[in-house]
Amino acid sequence: MLVLGIETSCDETAVALVEDGVRVRSNVIGSQVDVHRPFGGVVPEIAARAHLEMLLPAVDRALVEAGATYADLEGVAVTAGPGLVGALLVGVAGAKSIALAHDLPFIGVNHLEGHVCATQLEYGLLDPPLLALIVSGGHTSLVRLDASGTFSTIGATIDDAAGEAFDKVARFLGLPYPGGPEIDQLSRTGDPTAIAFPRAMLGDGTYDFSMSGLKTAVIRELRRRDAADEEIVLSDVAASFTEAIVDVLVAKTLDAAAAEDIGTVTLVGGVAANTRLREAMTDGCARTGRRLLLPQPVLCTDNGAMIAAAGFNRLVAGQRTPLDLDADPGLGFSPLART
Ligand code: KG4
Ligand code: ZN
Repeated sequence: MLVLGIETSCDETAVALVEDGVRVRSNVIGSQVDVHRPFGGVVPEIAARAHLEMLLPAVDRALVEAGATYADLEGVAVTAGPGLVGALLVGVAGAKSIALAHDLPFIGVNHLEGHVCATQLEYGLLDPPLLALIVSGGHTSLVRLDASGTFSTIGATIDDAAGEAFDKVARFLGLPYPGGPEIDQLSRTGDPTAIAFPRAMLGDGTYDFSMSGLKTAVIRELRRRDAADEEIVLSDVAASFTEAIVDVLVAKTLDAAAAEDIGTVTLVGGVAANTRLREAMTDGCARTGRRLLLPQPVLCTDNGAMIAAAGFNRLVAGQRTPLDLDADPGLGFSPLART
């Protein structure tokens, strides 16, 4: 089954064609990062307008790159939420039009479910139970997929997302947006033990996260050193900050996997591209005898292929979404009904 996947929840205009939920035939990702960079973050109205300009050319390109036409499509999947409402609306309207014009089965997909399903593009159809750590600019969540196909959130950030923390700290350090890759690069030459930043909510018995205290701790430490005329080695700050985030993310994921007795862990979302996080999660899973599924970075960041994959799972289970679907910026998980 060839499914067209459309993703416009944030600042990537992404369209892909995926065969049988696992084989990526094309994966077009139109990044708006240059458009938002001068503002140091994503501007919702600008994102929506850029999606409007970029969406249909991206659909055309995805078809051409896959060597397919509309007549080859067997389903259309789109991110229905969560995300920026104006941005979501563009993708939802575009996907509905294509489904209507070509009389195709249509399915609205939860963005976080899409991130989890990115895993199947590299490792084959998912074999639950599975625990996913989703870490991006908008989300930091531990999600469980159980054998019946039900997704549930077992922990989430109570303030900033992990990527947001990377971006805000990077901005304070004078690095360009998005800051995650910049801090990753800087950290490689830094000492992760140079500064003992706090490990928020570690060992508190929940699977929730808090990132904003760490960001404040970094800013306070830099100001203190500046006032005391102490040397500031940016690579040490970057490495120590990364280590504090990674420690908590990995420890909580492994604790949750043990408590829920889940043998397979997957790491997805933009921050899953982080070198130190990939390394630490790989070590942690090996140490505790868990299988780690770690998709390549291009499948971890927002893309249309993950939406096509999640849509495929639901379409083959007989689910359809009516064409009056509305974008929902706060969309939660819904059960994958097997009919
Ligand atoms: O999943 P994504 O592409 O978009 C959202 O849904 O947010 O994630 C983007 C986020 C940004 O905050 C970016 O700084 C972060 O992922 N990021 C990284 C790295 N690459 C991207 N953070 C840390 N290390 C990286 N290598
Ligand atoms: Zn995302």
